[in-house]
Formats: sequence, structure tokens, C-alpha cells
Amino acid sequence: MGKIMSFVYDTAMAPLERMLFHRLRKQHLTQLSGTVLEIGAGTGVNFKYYPDTVDFVLAIEPESSMIQRAKKKVHALPISIKQQSAEDIDAPDNTFDVVIATLVFCSIDQPDKALEEIKRVLKPNGTILFIEHVRSEEPALAWLQDKLTPAWRHVADNCHLNRDTGRLIATTFTITYQAHYARKIVRVFKAKQTDH
Ligand SMILES: C[S@@+](CC[C@H](N)C(=O)[O-])C[C@H]1O[C@@H](n2cnc3c(N)ncnc32)[C@H](O)[C@@H]1O
Repeated sequence: MGKIMSFVYDTAMAPLERMLFHRLRKQHLTQLSGTVLEIGAGTGVNFKYYPDTVDFVLAIEPESSMIQRAKKKVHALPISIKQQSAEDIDAPDNTFDVVIATLVFCSIDQPDKALEEIKRVLKPNGTILFIEHVRSEEPALAWLQDKLTPAWRHVADNCHLNRDTGRLIATTFTITYQAHYARKIVRVFKAKQTDH
């Protein structure tokens, strides 16, 4: 399935990129700086948005067919792509200034474990930036998402339409910024380590 997804992904996403995601990626990714960990890089859609203020990007992605495509999008900035999952990140504690995930948390098998790993590798003053689609606050729409998810997961590489990613983030991090689009189904989250 991963191979088919990697083959169709950029073409299938093109209308949504034009409608919304290109704007959100440009708005938020071009502001980043320092060392960046990108979770679930897929075909490398985000690579062209990283500015010169970013020193280094470690992009992790479990699917080898996605990685092959992502490698073709690496440009001048140092970007290293590794075959890894968010639940088990091969990096020392306190390594990254920023961790980003775009359209990834819907597909992760163990999102709680992934967030704990992100917390571990993020520097104490680091930030996270997620652009994700989430469970609707509208009961009728949420009901539809619940009904569609079991079938959708099989055709769309484990994508859960009904995942409440904002609630999950808030269990591990302190959300500092949130913006919503498309009837609040698409959200941008920024968060920092929770002070204890
Ligand atoms: C919908 S694609 C998004 C790709 C890209 N981030 C984007 O914005 O277009 C979801 C990606 O998450 C990856 N993924 C799935 N489970 C993952 C996990 N446990 N850890 C890291 N990445 C994962 C998939 O292989 C896929 O490449």
C-alpha cells in the first residue's frame, strides 16, 4: 500500500495543496530556524519551504518508497532522510529546536508514544509545529468521520479521519497557538514543552 500511496500522493494532494496546504506550509515553515526534526516526511513536500535560517533537517519516514521520492526533493539545505518511525526516534535527548509534522498524526499507530519520543528529543526551550486534520467539533461531521474511518484507513495508509490530535498534543505539550481551517477540521498547532 505504501508504494501505491507514494506513487499517487503528490498528484492526489495537488488540489488540496492549491486550496490550502501550500499557503499553510509557506506561512509557517518559512519562519523556522535552528535544527529541525520532520516526522513522516512522505514524498518530501515540505523540503522546499525550509529557509536558510534552518541549520539542518532530520526527516524521518518509515516507508522506503516515500523516501525514494523524498530524496529527489532535497535541495541545498542539509536534509538527512532516515527510515524511522515517530514511536522510536534514533536521536539523543534534547537535540532539536523544532519538531514538525504535517498530515502525519492521523496515520501514526501509537500517537501517545510518538509524542513522548518527540518530547524526549526536543530541546527544553524547543517548539513543535503540526499541521493536521482532526476530528470535527460538529457532531454530525464527527459521526461521519467515525463511520468512514474503518474503510478509509485501508485505502489511505492508516489515515484516521477522526483522530483528536489537539487533545493528544495537550496531554504532552502546552499549546501556544492554534488556527483552524475547513470547518475546523484542519488545524495548525504550535506548542512548547510543558513547565513542571
Ligand atoms: C499523509 S502522508 C504526509 C506526508 C507529508 N508530511 C506531507 O505533509 O505531505 C503521512 C506520512 O506519515 C508517514 N507515517 C505513518 N506512520 C508513521 C510513523 N509511525 N512515524 C512516522 N511517519 C509515519 C507515512 O508513511 C506517510 O509518509
